[in-house]
Amino acid sequence: MTVYFIGAGPGDPELITVKGQRLIRSCPVILYAGSLVPEAVLQGHSAERVVNTAKLNLAEIVNLLHQAHKRGQDVARVHSGDPSLYGAIGEQIRELRALGIPFEIVPGVTATAACAALLESELTLPGVSQTLILTRYGTTSPMPEGEQLHDLARHRATLAIHLGVRQLPAIVGELLPHYGADCPIAVIHRASWPDQDWVQGTLADIEAKVAAKDFRRTALILVGRVLDPGAFAESALYDAAHRHLYRPGTD
Ligand SMILES: C[S@@+](CC[C@H](N)C(=O)[O-])C[C@H]1O[C@@H](n2cnc3c(N)ncnc32)[C@H](O)[C@@H]1O
Repeated sequence: MTVYFIGAGPGDPELITVKGQRLIRSCPVILYAGSLVPEAVLQGHSAERVVNTAKLNLAEIVNLLHQAHKRGQDVARVHSGDPSLYGAIGEQIRELRALGIPFEIVPGVTATAACAALLESELTLPGVSQTLILTRYGTTSPMPEGEQLHDLARHRATLAIHLGVRQLPAIVGELLPHYGADCPIAVIHRASWPDQDWVQGTLADIEAKVAAKDFRRTALILVGRVLDPGAFAESALYDAAHRHLYRPGTD
């Protein structure tokens, strides 16, 4: 018996790994984070028990996993995007280890990747930004020392800010001194869902543009000059003069 933590991807049921889909279709028990995982991701399952864990607490979830373990039934524990990011799997893993219940993690397509795809953007452009910071802006749980948005902003790296759309004015205020008013920013709502929508602008005008929408939850904020880079350098990777292991040249 194994508990499989499965990344469901950002919403589109085709954006799950082959392995994740196979396990969802074969496990007799499915627990899914229904606040962000659409039921369409579970299509084709043959489970005898399917539980939406959106309203359950940790003890209740662990109890369901424990019961399945006692029955010898594999569990598909389905989280949105990639389970390693803001998925609260760490605390579940700690409980499973304490109980001696085997588990495996199946990665997924994270929301940041889906949003970059939607914007047709490379988040790491040569000479523009080579660093992507995935962070969150929430008021519920505090950020660790040194990880406030204004601390991270000093790097002027590309930013992917989760859980922050309702705090957009505060976010813009923290970013402006470091990125400048003309820095591109995008707010993407439910990327890859049928009702996906997004707004692109600059730090100067994004608040007004987003105010015209109704983006309350499940929106990601991408910030950085990679979103509208103008001229940028070509990569060394595909430079005809650049020799490497797979393109050693003929001379
Ligand atoms: C609890 S976190 C889960 C992140 C997820 N594990 C991942 O890898 O993308 C939820 C936040 O991720 C972002 N998010 C998740 N799915 C999204 C989507 N389809 N479009 C835009 N943002 C999304 C939003 O910021 C949302 O508030």
